Amino acid sequence: MRSGPRIRVAVIGAGVMGRHHAHAYLSLPSADLVAMVDPDPNARAVAMRTFGCPVYADTHAMLADAPVDAASVVTPTSLHHGTTADLLAAGVHALVEKPVATSVAEATDLAERSRAAGLVLQVGHITRFYRAVRLLADRVEDPYLFDARRLTPHARIRDVGVILDLMIHDIDIVLGMVASPIVSADVAGHTIEPGGHEDVAAAQLTFENGCVARFLASRVAPDAERSLVVAERGRTTRVDFLREPQTEVAVYQARRGGDGDTHVRTDRHVVHEDNPLREELEHFLDRIALGAPPIGTLDDDLRSLRVATDLIGRLRPGAVPETERAPQVH
Ligand SMILES: NC(=O)c1ccc[n+]([C@@H]2O[C@H](COP(=O)([O-])OP(=O)(O)OC[C@H]3O[C@@H](n4cnc5c(N)ncnc54)[C@H](O)[C@@H]3O)[C@@H](O)[C@H]2O)c1
Repeated sequence: MRSGPRIRVAVIGAGVMGRHHAHAYLSLPSADLVAMVDPDPNARAVAMRTFGCPVYADTHAMLADAPVDAASVVTPTSLHHGTTADLLAAGVHALVEKPVATSVAEATDLAERSRAAGLVLQVGHITRFYRAVRLLADRVEDPYLFDARRLTPHARIRDVGVILDLMIHDIDIVLGMVASPIVSADVAGHTIEPGGHEDVAAAQLTFENGCVARFLASRVAPDAERSLVVAERGRTTRVDFLREPQTEVAVYQARRGGDGDTHVRTDRHVVHEDNPLREELEHFLDRIALGAPPIGTLDDDLRSLRVATDLIGRLRPGAVPETERAPQVH
């Protein structure tokens, strides 16, 4: 455990995820939760009761009043850019929930501001802190197929579509495991709920080395599903995230027999995900206090966002400008 002064942290946005951040900071000895922000009076009342720190109605009032070193930005995605820019201008390190912003231009602007100010800007790609994902990344050698499914019956987030809301998690995992440029991208999807954003999307990326990644994301599904299958020659790994904190990993090996190949399950184990959010926030604080190297760089974050916005542009031409397209697939 790190010794030294505690880092004074704030949580901007006291909704579902903001409260998870606040709980995680309270459990970290290196953090001192000094403030929260939310314009919604009900959210403020709940946060004040639960966390016992001052809760402000807006970020400027908080910055004028509370001495903070670092903050989590857990507002609706469409507000990430403005809020984070304000924090960086005030000299505050920022952890921004994923997706970092709704456009590559905004995300690039934030990356430039943080570099110029010498402040940590970390994006909340929580799956990078899942032990099962790390295990997979260590073991996977030469994948030829990914099949990622992330389905939920709940459409709580309304300001962005399911590609930025859910699919970006799997895009980020896959890009972390395939060291090859994307040569083609396809996507189909539907808007089911009011709001104009896609609620269901199916996408396929093909990489220069021949690897294919298929993604299905829905927030209007009858049942929840969160799984990832990775196929390599002779070995297939299936990860089931649904029963978090118990992630099930099953490994199948191809066996050549008289009747052709069969697949035998050679390993099945359960990985206990202790608390990925806590690990993510602890890493953020270690980067600030100790200069720890990032797990996933801003360039990685930008690449995942660029692929996601490229898919949105293909699905709804006009929804994003040409400059948001992934350069490799042109
Ligand atoms: N990493 C993950 O797995 C994960 C999971 C869920 C959500 N998220 C991300 O977290 C963010 C928030 O999602 P959520 O599920 O908590 O949404 P939410 O709607 O539950 O909470 C958002 C909160 O922000 C508040 N807010 C609105 N404007 C604000 C402002 N100007 N300043 C401060 N607060 C403001 C709202 O009143 C609300 O309480 C989104 O960007 C989402 O993509 C990430």
